[in-house]
Amino acid sequence: MLDFSTYLTFLRSNGLSEFASEIAPVLEIALRELNNGDLAKWEKACASLPEIETSAINLGASAVSAEAAQHISQETLDALRENLMQLHPWRKGPFNLFSLHIDTEWRSDWKWDRLEKSISPLKGRRVLDVGCGNGYHCFRMVASGAQAVVGIDPFLLYVMQFLAVNKYFKCQSAAVLPLGIDDLPKSLPAFDSVFSMGVLYHRKNPLEHLEHLRSLLVDGGELILETIIVEDEFGDILEPKGRYAKMRNVWKIPSPTTCADWLREVGFRDVRVVDISKTSLDEQRSSEWMTFESLGDFLDKDDTSLTFEGYPAPIRAVFVATK
Ligand SMILES: C[S@@+](CC[C@H](N)C(=O)[O-])C[C@H]1O[C@@H](n2cnc3c(N)ncnc32)[C@H](O)[C@@H]1O
Repeated sequence: MLDFSTYLTFLRSNGLSEFASEIAPVLEIALRELNNGDLAKWEKACASLPEIETSAINLGASAVSAEAAQHISQETLDALRENLMQLHPWRKGPFNLFSLHIDTEWRSDWKWDRLEKSISPLKGRRVLDVGCGNGYHCFRMVASGAQAVVGIDPFLLYVMQFLAVNKYFKCQSAAVLPLGIDDLPKSLPAFDSVFSMGVLYHRKNPLEHLEHLRSLLVDGGELILETIIVEDEFGDILEPKGRYAKMRNVWKIPSPTTCADWLREVGFRDVRVVDISKTSLDEQRSSEWMTFESLGDFLDKDDTSLTFEGYPAPIRAVFVATK
């Protein structure tokens, strides 16, 4: 079921030939070594999704959506819902498939709205989205005119979620590949825009991450970096001892000044912060499609300006920088 050969062919004929050739063997190994115990369940759910003819697709809508060409029965809608629920938890979205609203943990559309007007127009660009989750933003990038979008995420469930919704969207210019950033070539300047959103603080060596991202950009290309930050008054870098907002693997949370310095240090120019927003309890919350704990449980019950562990609550910033 996981077969990316058509997509690699698409990349080869859309200016990403060298990149496709470099990642093909890495992808082959990754696919051969898949050992997730839930894979059979997820594959069955994807294979059991009902056939529904679409009349309209809107990848640029807040809820990325598909409409049915004909009336669909309740039985078909139930089958759609039941199989998509096998891919729980749905974190990034929302999506709307034939009036079935997938109310995901995150309002990922809000993040997109905050950055879209501040980045170089994506029309005709080759785009890489590192840590793209289920590819919600990849669809929005295609809707904004990107010629080719490569999403990568090592968490296989998200790859399956992309395949499930894309059964109906039939978008051929984007895919979510089951790869992590360390699987990508070092120094292959192939992309006009590179997004890294929600990944930096999970990297033990953030400067190395930024250098790697820069090496994948063509000269003049643009990095869109989104990360949790701490306000400058809390110091240069917060290095949580143990968990941060119940998350493991949070190593370094920079202040906006520190993060901008890091970007300049690895060679970016025109570094600017285009948005700083505190994550609200409306933007990240549990829902029917993500029934586990969410932001409300990650914050101090008596003081929501603090995390459960007593650190400053998550504030997220978007940086734009040029190679
Ligand atoms: C906080 S989520 C952000 C998702 C999406 N970019 C967004 O902004 O909504 C971070 C994502 O990075 C992925 N991730 C974790 N380690 C990664 C790595 N080494 N390379 C690429 N992605 C990674 C996770 O699986 C997760 O989907």
